[in-house]
Amino acid sequence: MKYTASYPAARPRRLRQSDWVRRLTREHRLCRDDLIWSIIIHDGADDEVPVAAMPGVARLSVRAAAAAAKRASKLGIPAIAIFPYIDGAKKDSSGREALNPEGLVCTAVRAMKDAAPEVGLMVDVALDPFTDHGHDGLLHEGRILNDETVKVLTEQALIQVRAGADIVAPSDMMDGRVGAIRSALDAEGHQDAMIMSYAAKYASAFYGPYREAIGSAKALTGDKRTYQMDFGNTDEAMREVALDVSEGADMLLVKPGIAYLDIVSRVKAEFGLPTYAFQVSGEYAMIKAAVANGWVEEDRIVLETLTAFKRAGADGVVTYFAAKAAELLG
Ligand code: PBG
Repeated sequence: MKYTASYPAARPRRLRQSDWVRRLTREHRLCRDDLIWSIIIHDGADDEVPVAAMPGVARLSVRAAAAAAKRASKLGIPAIAIFPYIDGAKKDSSGREALNPEGLVCTAVRAMKDAAPEVGLMVDVALDPFTDHGHDGLLHEGRILNDETVKVLTEQALIQVRAGADIVAPSDMMDGRVGAIRSALDAEGHQDAMIMSYAAKYASAFYGPYREAIGSAKALTGDKRTYQMDFGNTDEAMREVALDVSEGADMLLVKPGIAYLDIVSRVKAEFGLPTYAFQVSGEYAMIKAAVANGWVEEDRIVLETLTAFKRAGADGVVTYFAAKAAELLG
């Protein structure tokens, strides 16, 4: 600390006395360029099907997702992350629908790119929306198979990029998948397709509402603790990040967000790559529930939590509040 003067010469309140000087001395600020808007899509006819556990969030039809892309463009939001709700009839134990180039995800990617080519599209690589057991990988006698899953994820990433996805975001936490996806993309000439790795993803209670949103809550048997990280660990996150960086990750994601700011801060400090935090469904739901009760002010808490990610070192935030935040930021 280079702070030398002491009271009464030093009076920190001097720099807080009015709005202009607070603005002048502010260290971190949120802007629209920091936002990645997470949306849920479905292939039904209804443009919006509300998600009960996430008031204000709805599953969007492909048409509504295309409209959302246009809205993101108008609001100056650089990118959208899409998560699919897959019809139960299309789920099976191996998540085969994940590899359908005419499936919901690829169809939505094409429609959104048509509507707003200037908006970046990020797509989740994982099998949980597509499997009848709700796991991110292939399940065999109660175990998640790593290397077999990586093969499927690699195919999944390829069809997403062929459809026009700009960023593939493996959220599955299998070992070795970033390297496998990178070489498969390169072998097909997709050198410019980016990988944002969910490098440090924890097994978390904060994902509860998301599982309702994508319809995997009832399906999920057991939990994800054999592949997602233990929330007691920090050094392990650094090892996970180091592996993904060595395998070719362009950008890093830490998830969940607000309870993991120490991880965001350490990842950014140790690796210096573009680093993002995911303000996940449970964080969104908790804020909305408190707002609905009149216990907190929504606009203020949205800007405060999003700015906290920046202060911790994040370059941006994946959030269901992106459109709202962009409007507030003007
Ligand atoms: C799984 C995945 C999850 C989320 C994004 N991708 C849930 C999980 O790991 O069980 C959570 C997103 C959120 O809670 O908003 N591939």
